[in-house]
Amino acid sequence: MSTKSKQLAGEKATEFIKDGMVLGLGTGSTVYWTIQKLGELVKGGLNIQGVPTSKQTEKLANQLDIPLLSLSDVNDIDLTIDGADEANSNLELIKGGGGALLREKMIASISRRLVIVVDQSKYVPELGHFPLPVEIVPFGWEITSKQIAALGCLPQLRREERDPVVTDNGNYIVDCHFNTISDAKQLDQALNMIPGVVENGLFVDMANELIIGRDDGTIDFLST
Ligand code: 5RP
Repeated sequence: MSTKSKQLAGEKATEFIKDGMVLGLGTGSTVYWTIQKLGELVKGGLNIQGVPTSKQTEKLANQLDIPLLSLSDVNDIDLTIDGADEANSNLELIKGGGGALLREKMIASISRRLVIVVDQSKYVPELGHFPLPVEIVPFGWEITSKQIAALGCLPQLRREERDPVVTDNGNYIVDCHFNTISDAKQLDQALNMIPGVVENGLFVDMANELIIGRDDGTIDFLST
């Protein structure tokens, strides 16, 4: 995985942006390039408003003078551009490696179009090699973890040094080692039935376009 392939995919996605749009702004090192390019376009006169999916993206957008709205200010979003940790040929995704999965999913759920930007290493035949991030409430997190484990994985509380990582929403994340996920839709529903689970990183029937940047400088497009 190289910066070049991320940059290729990230910048290419700006071609979907049109004047006047409300845009969901994703999180991570690939969509970073989308947001950088968007900053240039805004400086050049493009009129858009962005809804950030994380505090990290909010900070970046502010540095680039991209006008922002909060999710509470909008009813729907024209286009969201975001990254992913894994994507398959059905455009099912694992997201949340950067810890922003809840806000990303909320914003994706009201977006008319979701464009995903990845480098070639993220495009996989089957989901699950990347540990699936699941956002859970801190209260009784050990019990929630056990209930998640019963679905057939090894959950690991995400920590920084020794302390649990706390999301922008004040929750914890468990990274769940499934190895393979054969039915993403069924797992998505089963995880979200567990009371302590806030949301999980499976995005099923959400993405419309996948842009894959390759190290040789080429780009592949997949759409639903
Ligand atoms: C953050 C995400 C990111 O989109 C995902 O982790 C991909 O990030 P990157 O482009 O840095 O590899 O879901 O919650």
